Amino acid sequence: MSRAATGAATGAARSRAELRPTLIFATMSSLRDARSEQHNSPEQRDSPEVMHMVDLQGLHARMAKELRGAMQEVVDTSAFIQGKHVRDFEGALAQRLGDDCHVVGCGNGTDALLLALRAMGIGPGDEVIVPDFTFIATAEVVALTGATPVFADIDPRTFQLDVTSAQRAMSDQTRAVIVVHLFGQCADMDALGAWAQTHGLHVVEDNAQSLGASWFGTRVQGRAGLLGDAGTTSFFPSKNLGALGDGGAVLTRNASLAEKVRLLANHGAKQKYHHLEIGLNSRLDGLQAAFLGAKLPHFDDMIARRQKAASWYDVALGAGPGAWAGGAGDFGVVVPFREERSTHMFHQYCVLLPRETNREAVQRELQSRGIPTAVYYPTPLSSQPAFQGKGRTVEGGTPAAHEVSRRILALPMHTELTPDMVQRVVEELFRTLPTPQD
Ligand SMILES: Cc1ncc(COP(=O)(O)O)c(C=O)c1O
Repeated sequence: MSRAATGAATGAARSRAELRPTLIFATMSSLRDARSEQHNSPEQRDSPEVMHMVDLQGLHARMAKELRGAMQEVVDTSAFIQGKHVRDFEGALAQRLGDDCHVVGCGNGTDALLLALRAMGIGPGDEVIVPDFTFIATAEVVALTGATPVFADIDPRTFQLDVTSAQRAMSDQTRAVIVVHLFGQCADMDALGAWAQTHGLHVVEDNAQSLGASWFGTRVQGRAGLLGDAGTTSFFPSKNLGALGDGGAVLTRNASLAEKVRLLANHGAKQKYHHLEIGLNSRLDGLQAAFLGAKLPHFDDMIARRQKAASWYDVALGAGPGAWAGGAGDFGVVVPFREERSTHMFHQYCVLLPRETNREAVQRELQSRGIPTAVYYPTPLSSQPAFQGKGRTVEGGTPAAHEVSRRILALPMHTELTPDMVQRVVEELFRTLPTPQD
Protein backbone atom coordinates (compact mmCIF):
# COMPACT_ATOMS: atom_id res chain seq x y z
CA MET A 1 0.00 0.00 0.00
CA SER A 2 1.28 3.51 -0.72
CA ARG A 3 2.65 5.48 2.15
CA ALA A 4 0.27 8.26 1.23
CA ALA A 5 -2.59 5.82 1.44
CA THR A 6 -1.62 4.72 4.92
CA GLY A 7 -0.88 8.30 5.86
CA ALA A 8 2.29 7.12 7.64
CA ALA A 9 5.78 8.00 6.55
CA THR A 10 8.03 5.11 7.43
CA GLY A 11 11.61 5.92 8.36
CA ALA A 12 12.98 3.58 5.68
CA ALA A 13 11.40 5.40 2.76
CA ARG A 14 12.13 8.79 4.22
CA SER A 15 15.81 8.04 4.64
CA ARG A 16 15.91 6.57 1.12
CA ALA A 17 14.50 9.82 -0.26
CA GLU A 18 16.88 11.87 1.80
CA LEU A 19 19.85 9.86 0.54
CA ARG A 20 19.11 10.69 -3.08
CA PRO A 21 21.58 13.12 -4.64
CA THR A 22 20.03 16.55 -4.45
CA LEU A 23 20.31 19.42 -6.88
CA ILE A 24 19.90 22.45 -4.67
CA PHE A 25 17.79 22.40 -1.53
CA ALA A 26 14.89 24.80 -1.32
CA THR A 27 15.80 28.17 0.10
CA MET A 28 13.22 30.32 1.80
CA SER A 29 14.00 33.31 -0.40
CA SER A 30 13.43 31.48 -3.69
CA LEU A 31 10.10 30.19 -2.47
CA ARG A 32 9.08 33.63 -1.34
CA ASP A 33 9.62 34.85 -4.91
CA ALA A 34 6.81 32.74 -6.29
CA ARG A 35 3.61 34.60 -5.69
CA SER A 36 0.45 33.66 -7.50
CA GLU A 37 -1.50 30.57 -6.73
CA GLN A 38 -4.22 28.51 -8.28
CA HIS A 39 -4.37 25.39 -6.17
CA ASN A 40 -3.45 26.45 -2.65
CA SER A 41 -5.87 27.80 -0.08
CA PRO A 42 -5.95 31.54 0.78
CA GLU A 43 -4.25 30.82 4.14
CA GLN A 44 -1.41 29.00 2.40
CA ARG A 45 -0.91 31.65 -0.27
CA ASP A 46 1.41 33.85 1.71
CA SER A 47 3.38 31.06 3.31
CA PRO A 48 7.01 30.91 2.26
CA GLU A 49 6.70 27.11 2.18
CA VAL A 50 4.04 27.18 -0.50
CA MET A 51 4.74 26.12 -4.06
CA HIS A 52 2.63 27.22 -7.02
CA MET A 53 1.10 25.16 -9.81
CA VAL A 54 1.23 28.20 -12.09
CA ASP A 55 2.86 31.54 -11.24
CA LEU A 56 1.40 34.22 -13.46
CA GLN A 57 2.02 36.98 -10.95
CA GLY A 58 5.72 36.18 -10.94
CA LEU A 59 5.80 36.12 -14.74
CA HIS A 60 3.84 39.33 -15.18
CA ALA A 61 5.86 41.16 -12.54
CA ARG A 62 8.88 40.75 -14.83
CA MET A 63 7.08 42.43 -17.73
CA ALA A 64 4.81 44.78 -15.81
CA LYS A 65 5.98 47.90 -17.60
CA GLU A 66 5.22 46.53 -21.05
CA LEU A 67 1.82 45.26 -19.93
CA ARG A 68 0.87 48.59 -18.39
CA GLY A 69 2.04 50.36 -21.54
CA ALA A 70 -0.10 48.05 -23.68
CA MET A 71 -3.16 48.72 -21.55
CA GLN A 72 -2.59 52.46 -21.67
CA GLU A 73 -2.34 52.37 -25.44
CA VAL A 74 -5.68 50.59 -25.77
CA VAL A 75 -7.29 53.10 -23.43
CA ASP A 76 -5.75 55.99 -25.37
CA THR A 77 -6.80 54.69 -28.79
CA SER A 78 -10.13 53.09 -27.83
CA ALA A 79 -9.26 50.28 -30.25
CA PHE A 80 -11.29 47.77 -28.27
CA ILE A 81 -12.83 45.65 -31.03
CA GLN A 82 -11.06 44.60 -34.25
CA GLY A 83 -8.63 47.49 -34.14
CA LYS A 84 -4.94 48.07 -34.61
CA HIS A 85 -3.83 45.92 -31.66
CA VAL A 86 -5.61 42.85 -32.99
CA ARG A 87 -4.19 43.34 -36.48
CA ASP A 88 -0.70 43.97 -35.12
CA PHE A 89 -0.74 40.92 -32.90
CA GLU A 90 -2.15 38.64 -35.61
CA GLY A 91 0.58 39.86 -37.95
CA ALA A 92 3.34 39.46 -35.37
CA LEU A 93 2.27 35.92 -34.48
CA ALA A 94 1.91 34.97 -38.16
CA GLN A 95 5.41 36.26 -38.82
CA ARG A 96 6.77 34.31 -35.88
CA LEU A 97 5.12 31.09 -37.01
CA GLY A 98 6.26 31.69 -40.60
CA ASP A 99 5.16 29.55 -43.55
CA ASP A 100 3.03 32.45 -44.91
CA CYS A 101 0.37 31.54 -42.43
CA HIS A 102 -2.78 33.42 -41.48
CA VAL A 103 -3.66 34.05 -37.86
CA VAL A 104 -7.29 34.87 -37.11
CA GLY A 105 -7.83 35.95 -33.52
CA CYS A 106 -11.02 34.89 -31.80
CA GLY A 107 -12.65 34.76 -28.39
CA ASN A 108 -10.97 31.64 -26.99
CA GLY A 109 -9.49 28.27 -27.96
CA THR A 110 -12.86 26.54 -27.87
CA ASP A 111 -14.37 28.97 -30.35
CA ALA A 112 -11.26 28.60 -32.52
CA LEU A 113 -12.01 24.87 -32.84
CA LEU A 114 -15.69 25.50 -33.48
CA LEU A 115 -14.92 28.13 -36.11
CA ALA A 116 -12.42 25.85 -37.88
CA LEU A 117 -14.96 23.01 -38.05
CA ARG A 118 -17.73 25.35 -39.19
CA ALA A 119 -15.45 26.83 -41.87
CA MET A 120 -14.82 23.29 -43.16
CA GLY A 121 -18.55 22.70 -43.37
CA ILE A 122 -18.68 20.03 -40.66
CA GLY A 123 -22.22 19.55 -39.39
CA PRO A 124 -25.10 17.14 -38.73
CA GLY A 125 -24.56 13.65 -40.13
CA ASP A 126 -20.78 13.95 -40.00
CA GLU A 127 -18.41 12.19 -37.63
CA VAL A 128 -15.19 13.69 -36.32
CA ILE A 129 -12.53 11.52 -34.68
CA VAL A 130 -11.04 12.92 -31.49
CA PRO A 131 -8.71 11.49 -28.84
CA ASP A 132 -10.50 10.24 -25.73
CA PHE A 133 -7.84 11.80 -23.53
CA THR A 134 -7.90 15.60 -23.87
CA PHE A 135 -9.67 18.69 -22.56
CA ILE A 136 -13.41 18.60 -23.18
CA ALA A 137 -13.33 21.49 -25.68
CA THR A 138 -11.81 19.24 -28.35
CA ALA A 139 -14.94 17.08 -28.52
CA GLU A 140 -17.48 19.60 -27.24
CA VAL A 141 -17.17 21.67 -30.40
CA VAL A 142 -17.88 18.64 -32.59
CA ALA A 143 -21.21 18.18 -30.82
CA LEU A 144 -21.88 21.93 -31.10
CA THR A 145 -21.67 21.73 -34.90
CA GLY A 146 -24.30 18.96 -34.82
CA ALA A 147 -21.73 16.32 -35.82
CA THR A 148 -20.82 13.25 -33.74
CA PRO A 149 -17.54 13.03 -31.85
CA VAL A 150 -15.94 9.60 -32.18
CA PHE A 151 -13.53 8.79 -29.39
CA ALA A 152 -10.32 6.99 -30.30
CA ASP A 153 -7.58 5.75 -28.00
CA ILE A 154 -4.20 7.26 -27.28
CA ASP A 155 -0.67 5.90 -27.32
CA PRO A 156 -0.01 5.18 -23.63
CA ARG A 157 3.62 6.34 -23.93
CA THR A 158 3.08 9.68 -25.68
CA PHE A 159 -0.54 10.32 -24.52
CA GLN A 160 -1.30 11.41 -28.10
CA LEU A 161 -3.98 10.13 -30.52
CA ASP A 162 -3.08 6.61 -31.67
CA VAL A 163 -3.26 6.23 -35.43
CA THR A 164 -4.30 2.56 -35.37
CA SER A 165 -7.18 3.35 -33.04
CA ALA A 166 -8.14 6.33 -35.20
CA GLN A 167 -8.18 4.03 -38.23
CA ARG A 168 -10.48 1.61 -36.43
CA ALA A 169 -12.77 4.47 -35.39
CA MET A 170 -13.40 5.55 -38.98
CA SER A 171 -16.76 5.05 -40.69
CA ASP A 172 -18.42 6.20 -43.91
CA GLN A 173 -19.53 9.35 -42.05
CA THR A 174 -16.04 10.37 -40.92
CA ARG A 175 -15.17 13.79 -42.33
CA ALA A 176 -12.41 15.05 -40.08
CA VAL A 177 -9.99 14.30 -37.26
CA ILE A 178 -8.96 16.66 -34.50
CA VAL A 179 -5.38 15.92 -33.55
CA VAL A 180 -4.45 17.35 -30.16
CA HIS A 181 -0.81 18.21 -29.54
CA LEU A 182 -1.05 17.43 -25.86
CA PHE A 183 1.02 18.91 -23.02
CA GLY A 184 3.50 20.73 -25.29
CA GLN A 185 4.68 18.39 -28.00
CA CYS A 186 3.34 17.18 -31.33
CA ALA A 187 1.29 14.09 -32.00
CA ASP A 188 2.61 11.79 -34.75
CA MET A 189 1.76 13.98 -37.72
CA ASP A 190 3.56 11.66 -40.15
CA ALA A 191 1.29 8.72 -39.42
CA LEU A 192 -1.90 10.68 -38.71
CA GLY A 193 -1.42 13.00 -41.67
CA ALA A 194 -0.77 10.14 -44.10
CA TRP A 195 -3.82 8.24 -42.88
CA ALA A 196 -6.08 11.33 -43.06
CA GLN A 197 -4.87 12.17 -46.54
CA THR A 198 -5.51 8.65 -47.80
CA HIS A 199 -9.12 8.90 -46.67
CA GLY A 200 -9.70 12.55 -47.63
CA LEU A 201 -10.27 13.67 -44.03
CA HIS A 202 -9.86 17.24 -42.86
CA VAL A 203 -7.15 17.58 -40.23
CA VAL A 204 -7.67 20.13 -37.46
CA GLU A 205 -4.79 20.48 -35.02
CA ASP A 206 -5.84 21.47 -31.53
CA ASN A 207 -2.70 23.34 -30.61
CA ALA A 208 -3.99 25.00 -27.44
CA GLN A 209 -1.13 23.51 -25.41
CA SER A 210 1.73 23.41 -27.89
CA LEU A 211 2.01 26.80 -29.54
CA GLY A 212 5.60 27.14 -30.76
CA ALA A 213 6.29 23.41 -31.10
CA SER A 214 7.73 22.04 -34.34
CA TRP A 215 7.45 18.64 -35.99
CA PHE A 216 10.44 17.17 -37.83
CA GLY A 217 8.96 14.07 -39.42
CA THR A 218 9.97 12.25 -42.57
CA ARG A 219 6.65 12.94 -44.26
CA VAL A 220 5.96 16.46 -42.96
CA GLN A 221 7.90 19.11 -41.13
CA GLY A 222 6.81 22.44 -39.73
CA ARG A 223 5.07 24.27 -36.96
CA ALA A 224 2.38 22.65 -34.88
CA GLY A 225 -0.91 24.11 -36.04
CA LEU A 226 0.26 24.48 -39.63
CA LEU A 227 0.68 20.81 -40.47
CA GLY A 228 -2.97 20.06 -41.25
CA ASP A 229 -5.80 22.06 -42.81
CA ALA A 230 -6.26 24.33 -39.81
CA GLY A 231 -4.74 24.69 -36.39
CA THR A 232 -6.22 26.33 -33.37
CA THR A 233 -4.73 27.73 -30.22
CA SER A 234 -5.77 29.18 -26.88
CA PHE A 235 -4.46 32.23 -25.10
CA PHE A 236 -6.03 31.19 -21.78
CA PRO A 237 -3.82 32.88 -19.14
CA SER A 238 -1.87 29.77 -18.13
CA LYS A 239 -1.13 28.68 -21.69
CA ASN A 240 2.34 28.97 -23.30
CA LEU A 241 1.36 32.40 -24.57
CA GLY A 242 -1.35 33.53 -22.21
CA ALA A 243 -3.51 36.62 -22.36
CA LEU A 244 -4.78 38.40 -19.25
CA GLY A 245 -8.18 36.93 -19.96
CA ASP A 246 -9.64 34.71 -22.67
CA GLY A 247 -8.39 34.61 -26.23
CA GLY A 248 -7.73 32.19 -29.05
CA ALA A 249 -6.81 31.96 -32.73
CA VAL A 250 -7.16 29.87 -35.83
CA LEU A 251 -3.91 29.28 -37.71
CA THR A 252 -3.85 28.21 -41.34
CA ARG A 253 -1.93 28.49 -44.57
CA ASN A 254 -5.20 28.43 -46.48
CA ALA A 255 -6.22 32.04 -47.24
CA SER A 256 -9.83 31.26 -48.11
CA LEU A 257 -10.29 29.19 -44.96
CA ALA A 258 -8.87 32.07 -42.92
CA GLU A 259 -11.30 34.45 -44.58
CA LYS A 260 -14.21 32.13 -43.83
CA VAL A 261 -13.18 31.85 -40.17
CA ARG A 262 -12.94 35.64 -39.93
CA LEU A 263 -16.40 35.98 -41.41
CA LEU A 264 -17.96 33.39 -39.08
CA ALA A 265 -16.29 34.94 -36.03
CA ASN A 266 -17.90 38.27 -36.85
CA HIS A 267 -21.59 37.33 -37.10
CA GLY A 268 -21.05 36.02 -40.62
CA ALA A 269 -20.47 39.56 -41.86
CA LYS A 270 -17.68 41.26 -43.79
CA GLN A 271 -19.57 44.50 -43.96
CA LYS A 272 -21.52 45.87 -41.05
CA TYR A 273 -25.16 44.71 -41.01
CA HIS A 274 -24.76 42.53 -44.10
CA HIS A 275 -24.72 38.92 -42.89
CA LEU A 276 -23.72 36.22 -45.36
CA GLU A 277 -23.78 33.31 -42.91
CA ILE A 278 -25.00 32.43 -39.44
CA GLY A 279 -21.89 33.17 -37.46
CA LEU A 280 -21.08 34.09 -33.89
CA ASN A 281 -19.47 36.86 -31.95
CA SER A 282 -16.00 35.56 -31.26
CA ARG A 283 -13.40 38.25 -31.82
CA LEU A 284 -10.09 38.62 -30.08
CA ASP A 285 -10.41 41.56 -27.73
CA GLY A 286 -8.22 44.60 -28.48
CA LEU A 287 -6.97 44.73 -24.92
CA GLN A 288 -6.01 41.05 -24.92
CA ALA A 289 -4.32 41.45 -28.29
CA ALA A 290 -2.26 44.33 -26.90
CA PHE A 291 -1.22 42.24 -23.87
CA LEU A 292 -0.37 39.31 -26.11
CA GLY A 293 1.66 41.61 -28.37
CA ALA A 294 3.61 42.76 -25.32
CA LYS A 295 4.26 39.19 -24.19
CA LEU A 296 5.16 37.77 -27.61
CA PRO A 297 8.80 39.05 -27.57
CA HIS A 298 9.23 37.08 -24.32
CA PHE A 299 7.89 33.86 -25.83
CA ASP A 300 11.27 32.16 -26.43
CA ASP A 301 12.41 32.98 -22.92
CA MET A 302 9.15 31.73 -21.41
CA ILE A 303 9.49 28.43 -23.27
CA ALA A 304 13.18 28.08 -22.39
CA ARG A 305 12.26 28.46 -18.72
CA ARG A 306 9.65 25.71 -18.99
CA GLN A 307 12.10 23.44 -20.80
CA LYS A 308 14.77 24.03 -18.15
CA ALA A 309 12.32 23.20 -15.39
CA ALA A 310 11.43 19.99 -17.24
CA SER A 311 15.08 18.96 -17.42
CA TRP A 312 15.47 19.63 -13.67
CA TYR A 313 12.47 17.38 -13.05
CA ASP A 314 13.98 14.66 -15.24
CA VAL A 315 17.18 14.67 -13.22
CA ALA A 316 15.47 14.93 -9.84
CA LEU A 317 13.09 12.10 -10.73
CA GLY A 318 16.09 9.96 -11.52
CA ALA A 319 15.36 9.57 -15.19
CA GLY A 320 18.46 11.35 -16.41
CA PRO A 321 19.15 10.77 -20.09
CA GLY A 322 16.68 7.87 -19.95
CA ALA A 323 13.97 10.52 -19.85
CA TRP A 324 14.06 10.55 -23.62
CA ALA A 325 12.67 7.06 -23.63
CA GLY A 326 9.99 7.84 -21.05
CA GLY A 327 12.05 6.13 -18.37
CA ALA A 328 11.02 5.46 -14.79
CA GLY A 329 13.31 6.21 -11.86
CA ASP A 330 13.74 4.07 -8.72
CA PHE A 331 10.32 5.03 -7.41
CA GLY A 332 8.58 3.83 -10.54
CA VAL A 333 7.46 7.33 -11.55
CA VAL A 334 7.34 7.49 -15.36
CA VAL A 335 8.61 10.81 -16.66
CA PRO A 336 7.11 12.41 -19.79
CA PHE A 337 8.03 10.70 -23.04
CA ARG A 338 10.02 12.87 -25.43
CA GLU A 339 9.03 12.50 -29.04
CA GLU A 340 12.30 12.76 -30.99
CA ARG A 341 10.54 14.25 -34.02
CA SER A 342 9.01 17.11 -32.01
CA THR A 343 10.20 19.96 -29.88
CA HIS A 344 8.54 20.11 -26.46
CA MET A 345 7.07 23.34 -25.08
CA PHE A 346 6.24 21.80 -21.68
CA HIS A 347 2.86 23.32 -21.15
CA GLN A 348 2.54 20.58 -18.53
CA TYR A 349 4.95 18.19 -16.86
CA CYS A 350 2.83 15.09 -16.30
CA VAL A 351 4.20 11.90 -14.77
CA LEU A 352 2.60 8.49 -14.44
CA LEU A 353 2.50 7.20 -10.89
CA PRO A 354 3.16 3.52 -10.18
CA ARG A 355 0.07 1.42 -10.97
CA GLU A 356 -1.26 0.73 -7.48
CA THR A 357 -0.71 4.23 -6.10
CA ASN A 358 -3.63 5.96 -4.43
CA ARG A 359 -3.32 9.19 -6.40
CA GLU A 360 -5.79 11.18 -4.35
CA ALA A 361 -3.93 10.30 -1.17
CA VAL A 362 -0.64 11.33 -2.77
CA GLN A 363 -2.17 14.64 -3.82
CA ARG A 364 -3.60 15.22 -0.37
CA GLU A 365 -0.31 14.49 1.32
CA LEU A 366 1.62 16.71 -1.09
CA GLN A 367 -0.90 19.50 -0.62
CA SER A 368 -0.49 19.26 3.15
CA ARG A 369 3.22 19.88 2.59
CA GLY A 370 2.49 22.90 0.38
CA ILE A 371 2.96 21.16 -2.98
CA PRO A 372 0.02 21.59 -5.37
CA THR A 373 -0.60 19.06 -8.12
CA ALA A 374 -3.34 18.60 -10.70
CA VAL A 375 -4.81 15.83 -12.80
CA TYR A 376 -5.09 16.40 -16.53
CA TYR A 377 -7.40 14.55 -17.17
CA PRO A 378 -9.16 12.38 -14.60
CA THR A 379 -11.91 11.03 -16.87
CA PRO A 380 -11.72 10.03 -20.55
CA LEU A 381 -14.22 12.07 -22.52
CA SER A 382 -16.21 9.01 -23.60
CA SER A 383 -17.03 8.45 -19.92
CA GLN A 384 -18.14 12.03 -19.27
CA PRO A 385 -21.87 12.40 -18.57
CA ALA A 386 -22.08 15.12 -21.22
CA PHE A 387 -21.25 12.70 -24.02
CA GLN A 388 -23.57 9.85 -23.05
CA GLY A 389 -25.75 9.29 -26.10
CA LYS A 390 -23.93 12.05 -27.98
CA GLY A 391 -20.77 10.34 -29.13
CA ARG A 392 -19.40 7.05 -30.35
CA THR A 393 -16.37 5.18 -29.01
CA VAL A 394 -14.02 3.13 -31.14
CA GLU A 395 -14.71 -0.60 -31.07
CA GLY A 396 -12.66 -2.23 -28.35
CA GLY A 397 -12.80 0.93 -26.26
CA THR A 398 -10.03 3.19 -25.10
CA PRO A 399 -8.05 1.21 -22.48
CA ALA A 400 -4.94 3.37 -22.77
CA ALA A 401 -6.92 6.56 -22.14
CA HIS A 402 -8.48 4.95 -19.06
CA GLU A 403 -5.16 3.68 -17.72
CA VAL A 404 -3.41 7.04 -18.23
CA SER A 405 -6.36 8.92 -16.68
CA ARG A 406 -6.02 6.76 -13.56
CA ARG A 407 -2.26 7.23 -13.13
CA ILE A 408 -1.37 10.67 -14.46
CA LEU A 409 -0.27 13.52 -12.22
CA ALA A 410 0.76 17.04 -13.25
CA LEU A 411 3.53 18.60 -11.19
CA PRO A 412 3.95 22.38 -10.86
CA MET A 413 5.13 23.74 -14.21
CA HIS A 414 5.65 27.40 -15.00
CA THR A 415 8.19 30.00 -15.99
CA GLU A 416 9.22 30.95 -12.45
CA LEU A 417 10.36 27.54 -11.18
CA THR A 418 13.90 27.23 -9.80
CA PRO A 419 16.01 24.07 -9.39
CA ASP A 420 15.47 24.12 -5.64
CA MET A 421 11.69 24.31 -6.05
CA VAL A 422 11.72 21.38 -8.45
CA GLN A 423 13.94 19.42 -6.11
CA ARG A 424 11.56 20.05 -3.26
CA VAL A 425 8.54 18.88 -5.28
CA VAL A 426 10.31 15.66 -6.20
CA GLU A 427 11.60 14.98 -2.69
CA GLU A 428 8.13 15.43 -1.27
CA LEU A 429 6.65 13.23 -4.01
CA PHE A 430 9.11 10.44 -3.19
CA ARG A 431 8.23 10.71 0.48
CA THR A 432 4.63 9.87 -0.36
CA LEU A 433 5.48 6.79 -2.47
CA PRO A 434 6.28 3.25 -1.36
CA THR A 435 9.91 2.41 -0.69
CA PRO A 436 11.54 1.14 -3.86
CA GLN A 437 12.70 -2.48 -3.76
CA ASP A 438 16.43 -2.80 -4.28
C1 LIG B 1 -6.38 20.84 -25.56
C2 LIG B 1 -7.24 22.05 -25.38
N1 LIG B 1 -8.15 22.35 -26.33
C3 LIG B 1 -8.94 23.42 -26.24
C4 LIG B 1 -8.85 24.28 -25.17
C5 LIG B 1 -9.84 25.41 -25.08
O1 LIG B 1 -9.23 26.65 -24.96
P1 LIG B 1 -10.03 27.85 -24.22
O2 LIG B 1 -9.97 27.57 -22.77
O3 LIG B 1 -9.24 29.05 -24.61
O4 LIG B 1 -11.40 27.86 -24.77
C6 LIG B 1 -7.91 24.04 -24.18
C7 LIG B 1 -7.75 24.98 -23.05
O5 LIG B 1 -8.04 24.84 -21.95
C8 LIG B 1 -7.10 22.89 -24.27
O6 LIG B 1 -6.20 22.59 -23.32
